[in-house]
Amino acid sequence: MNPSHILVSGGAGYIGSHAAYALKQAGYEPVVVDNLSTGNAWAASFGAFEQGDIGHCDFVRAVCEKYAPVAAMHFAAFIEVGESVRNPDKYFENNRDKASRFFKTLNGCGVKKVVFSSTAAVYGDTSAVYRSAGGNGPVSELYPTRPINPYGQAKLEAEAYLRMLDSDGLRSIALRYFNVAGAADIEAQIGEAHIPESHLIPRLVLPLIDTPVVLLNALGLQDGFTIYGDDYPTQDGTAIRDYVHVLDLIDAHLRALDYLLNGGETDIFNLGSGAGFSVLEMVAAARKALDRPDFSPAVAPRREGDPAILVASNRKANRILGWRPARGLQDMIRDAAVWHRSALYRDAMLARMGVEAA
Ligand SMILES: NC(=O)c1ccc[n+]([C@@H]2O[C@H](COP(=O)([O-])OP(=O)(O)OC[C@H]3O[C@@H](n4cnc5c(N)ncnc54)[C@H](O)[C@@H]3O)[C@@H](O)[C@H]2O)c1
Repeated sequence: MNPSHILVSGGAGYIGSHAAYALKQAGYEPVVVDNLSTGNAWAASFGAFEQGDIGHCDFVRAVCEKYAPVAAMHFAAFIEVGESVRNPDKYFENNRDKASRFFKTLNGCGVKKVVFSSTAAVYGDTSAVYRSAGGNGPVSELYPTRPINPYGQAKLEAEAYLRMLDSDGLRSIALRYFNVAGAADIEAQIGEAHIPESHLIPRLVLPLIDTPVVLLNALGLQDGFTIYGDDYPTQDGTAIRDYVHVLDLIDAHLRALDYLLNGGETDIFNLGSGAGFSVLEMVAAARKALDRPDFSPAVAPRREGDPAILVASNRKANRILGWRPARGLQDMIRDAAVWHRSALYRDAMLARMGVEAA
């Protein structure tokens, strides 16, 4: 039998390219759909690549007619929480309106299985559940959704639109990610390549591995890694987050896809490790993984809108999808460092900034 085509929106981005890579390895034929607004053509190297916008119905229809995908994974979105506060319309337009149009077009084309990248930002500030559980209560899917920024709100509304299509026979899984980090083996030649880079692990790693100064400047890392806030109500005063390796995250997507293709119902799952690490614990982990005992970052005041604690319960994903992350913090930090040290990453980023590689 010919391999099944799976449409991967946002497959030229960080997580979507890892999905296309893993789908190909699992025997599927990925079809990447991406407008390259923040993604990279070099990352869309697994299966077919169709450049275009998920909000353009004619384009999406033509792709569906050409490949007849049996399912879609939807990663395409803007991802900067701070920018969403400054420019909410940009996020509601792309992450809610275009996403909804995309789901509707897929449904009209008979693509009735969709796995959707959602986010822990739909929960908002979850410190209360922590306090009520004596400081140890990870967030389950039953936790109330009260986003505190347009990024989270737009994702929540896109989830609701997708769920509504269930009555028309479209079965979907919304996967709410916590913090995603790491990279595939360097042979795959993909990894995180965001400008600006707001995620904690690349921000920790990049200043410690001889990254060119011009690149550090563009990423907002000219002063090295900074700890924002050491006066949170946590054991060491720094904020606590939950980190998952991108390959474990994608393993959950393949399980969700299998589940849907085998008749599974529409549902929502959190994807996190279930364990929280404070920023100071992350600093200690980076010292160890990168052999930099001298690393001692500066502390600045808290950033507005950063909750004290965000940790997932992954019990439901474990029970229903059989998913459990296999990789730990040291893997995430080391794999991120290998990627960020690579010539491919550095040259591609410098090229995007219009700077010649040395
Ligand atoms: N990175 C994380 O830690 C994290 C955490 C929670 C949720 N997510 C979600 O995961 C998904 C992927 O995140 P990422 O880190 O890979 O981001 P990314 O920016 O690396 O990738 C997003 C991709 O989508 C494409 N895109 C955006 N709008 C598009 C449109 N209208 N039409 C076609 N293509 C479009 C971009 O060009 C890019 O290639 C996003 O939906 C994000 O909300 C990410």
